[in-house]
Amino acid sequence: MVTTAQHTALITGASSGLGAEYARLLAAEGHQLVLVARRLDRLEALISELQQKYPQRMEAISCDLADAGATAYLMDEIATRELSIDILINNAGYSPKESFSQQTPQVVQAQLHVMINAVTELCHAVLPNMTEKQWGRIINVSSLAAFAPPGRGTMYSAIKQYVLAFSQSLDMDVRRDGIRVTALCPGFTHTEFHEVMDVADKASKIPAAFWSDAPFVVSAGWRAVNAGQAVCTPGMLNNVIAVVSKRLPERVRYHMGRVNPLE
Ligand SMILES: NC(=O)c1ccc[n+]([C@@H]2O[C@H](COP(=O)([O-])OP(=O)(O)OC[C@H]3O[C@@H](n4cnc5c(N)ncnc54)[C@H](OP(=O)(O)O)[C@@H]3O)[C@@H](O)[C@H]2O)c1
Repeated sequence: MVTTAQHTALITGASSGLGAEYARLLAAEGHQLVLVARRLDRLEALISELQQKYPQRMEAISCDLADAGATAYLMDEIATRELSIDILINNAGYSPKESFSQQTPQVVQAQLHVMINAVTELCHAVLPNMTEKQWGRIINVSSLAAFAPPGRGTMYSAIKQYVLAFSQSLDMDVRRDGIRVTALCPGFTHTEFHEVMDVADKASKIPAAFWSDAPFVVSAGWRAVNAGQAVCTPGMLNNVIAVVSKRLPERVRYHMGRVNPLE
């Protein structure tokens, strides 16, 4: 469904993968963009690409979401640029290369900041404007890992379960104000995620049937939030995995979780 009015969208992790694809999708619908990631050169290159086709305003903000003051910094920058956010895509995320026991305290803290604190604080920060307008859309990118058995990715599946539960509760909370919230839970998707995690070789051995392309995933998420669907698992196979996995006895889920194709 195409939204008719022009809005302003804040997209985190827009320098690659799903975030960059959200920028392309929302630009094509005429929305203004505020793109956030650490790699400013990537954001600026994407904006140059998009501005060749679309005239509306697009801004890039370099920000490390692992910084404790990231949300305050971003909201100040947005206010200084006289923009207010109607669409929030909380997408930035990764899984560290090292196993939990090998991580430094800084690596542990950074993942919590990027994938829990920033997600939660940004939702909170954009709500006053959305409530005033009685219109808003929020997509929080979770993962099929939120449904799958707990694996040895340790913090990753626990964090994505938080994002799923938080998004469902938030949707119930803000629905009466014309705001819709969706937890987008993709399965394996072709982006830079597995390269960053240093498991591209292992990921390439996972059968093609389990993989989706980024444009398919982002359109499914955008359709879902506009349809008022609080959870979206794009693709038939991922739907089946989510439904079946939740119904298995906890003991079976635990043992299945020990088999990780990325280890
Ligand atoms: N790909 C999959 O198979 C898959 C499956 C399920 C869920 N997901 C989720 O999808 C989301 C997007 O990932 P992707 O697959 O598109 O991976 P990606 O191509 O590696 O993109 C990750 C994005 O997150 C940004 N990011 C990482 N750390 C950041 C930080 N400290 N501060 C600001 N931005 C940061 C990166 O930008 P910079 O490096 O420039 O900062 C990049 O734009 C993540 O939440 C991921 O967990 C992915």
